[in-house]
Amino acid sequence: MNFLEERIIKDGGVKSNTILKVDSFLNHQIDTDLLNEIGKEFKKRFDGKPINKILTIEASGIGIACITALHFGVPVVFAKKSKTSNIGNDLYTAEVESFTHNEVRTIIVSKDYLTENDHVLIVDDFLANGRALKGLISVCRQANATVEGIGIAVEKGFQNGGRIIRELGYRVESLAIVDSMNAETGAVVFRDQEIY
Ligand code: G4P
Repeated sequence: MNFLEERIIKDGGVKSNTILKVDSFLNHQIDTDLLNEIGKEFKKRFDGKPINKILTIEASGIGIACITALHFGVPVVFAKKSKTSNIGNDLYTAEVESFTHNEVRTIIVSKDYLTENDHVLIVDDFLANGRALKGLISVCRQANATVEGIGIAVEKGFQNGGRIIRELGYRVESLAIVDSMNAETGAVVFRDQEIY
């Protein structure tokens, strides 16, 4: 088991057979040492790629993105889920359907902060059905930016997002892939992965 899998076993919980609880260290209270390890690991896995920007989506992705960006020495851009008054009108937009919230949201990124010169690492905390990632990829395509790879903390391997995004040809590195969970026993089964 790697450091994130160990932490999920130690402090995570199984809320239902499809929802993993990680809010004591990842997406409500945040353990910044853990985020630092996640950022370091993404840097190791994508080393040698000409990444000059980290892209994520608000809210939970931002913390991981910022610490990852420190390891790459590059800025972070996050897609917003609502249009704020100061963002201007020159925007890339994509529709993202939320599985958890059961609604469709328009995500937006200003054209000022994503261009054809960008080589992007997309990061996020969870990969479930892949809808957020599809939106972020769409925004990169609109900007003619290059997606160099995708770094995910927790992929739920029993949902189809990882397969869909990999089949599109993107390199997805998920630090923990949960293949199954059992709410009654609390058991979490991880996919065997190459140890880096
Ligand atoms: P998808 O983009 O891969 O299709 O994911 P999905 O719609 O299923 O997930 C939407 C939201 O739910 C995301 O946060 C994601 O982080 C979160 N999420 C998905 N599965 C789990 C899970 O098993 N446990 C926890 N704790 N969260 C999960 P969001 O709604 O975009 O909100 P935010 O927290 O980033 O603001």
